[in-house]
Amino acid sequence: MSTLLQEADRLYISTMGTVRSQLRTDVAFGLRQSQKTLPPKYFYDAYGSRLFEDICRQPEYYLTRTEAQILRTHAADIVRQTAGASLVELGSGSSVKTRLLFDEYQRQDHLLHYVPVDISASMLEETARGLLADYPSMSIEALVTDYLDGLTALPNTRPRLVLFLGSNLGNFSPTEQTELFQRLAASLHPGDQFLLGLDLRKSVEVLEAAYNDAAGVTADFNLNILRHINRELQADFQLAQFSHLAFYNRELHQVEMHLKSEVAQKVTIAALDLSVSFRAGETIHTEISRKFDAQEVKEQLAGYGFRFQSQWTDPDSRFLLGLFRYTG
Ligand code: AVJ
Repeated sequence: MSTLLQEADRLYISTMGTVRSQLRTDVAFGLRQSQKTLPPKYFYDAYGSRLFEDICRQPEYYLTRTEAQILRTHAADIVRQTAGASLVELGSGSSVKTRLLFDEYQRQDHLLHYVPVDISASMLEETARGLLADYPSMSIEALVTDYLDGLTALPNTRPRLVLFLGSNLGNFSPTEQTELFQRLAASLHPGDQFLLGLDLRKSVEVLEAAYNDAAGVTADFNLNILRHINRELQADFQLAQFSHLAFYNRELHQVEMHLKSEVAQKVTIAALDLSVSFRAGETIHTEISRKFDAQEVKEQLAGYGFRFQSQWTDPDSRFLLGLFRYTG
């Protein structure tokens, strides 16, 4: 791990060295499967992180708006129940929603120590600088890495409130979810807390619209994974030969995003010395966004020592924030 940046003792940014070498192995592995896959974390280069921010502003993508509304409405209550904690955020992105909590911590005279963890270095750095300017009492220890690695490097400040917002958990398979909860339990101390944002199950129409916005931002976001690979691994994916596909899988309670090859074609990934053939209509599975039954998640978390404390939801029960205390 290397410290890239240190600013007036209020900002440290560290990069865990695993990100780039993982891209090579993940791409080589995923494109050799019979159902080709690419991990969704590779949407988020600098441009992809921006596109995601843009998705969050689309009228069909209700998740961000709804979660922000819950945070706004209940910030005072959340802050009262998490007083004195330093904030660790997994997948912090632009930290826009988290500001709703920062504002309330400030109002209630709490010190702000923030540990954002994100895969996009550019996004982390830009966000951190903005936060330092807007919150003069805030100190930041940022970590550039993915969620699971981030958990192994949490600073030892206590007590900690781990934020996992935006239904980011939806990108995890059930197996990965179990692994995340185990690792989280292993890295927390009794008394630490966990605030989890979950997108709840709802009508197929609403779900499918959210991942097929009329402006085409989600389609561009999906295709961006190919742009990212073209640049980082000298590949020659032609974006015009792939199309965005997103639908709800009712059996697995998840929205699936795919990139569909419009023609039979061959793609070369020079840095991997790999050539990949596509049949016309064949897809690369790029993302799952699971939709949750809150009761199931609460029961599973209880099994790992997370005692349920409180939950907040919107009037239409689209989205839920759950607060848990790790008891060991
Ligand atoms: C950031 C993973 C919660 O799955 O809804 C948005 C990413 N993908 N539109 C989600 C995403 C397509 C988003 N998460």
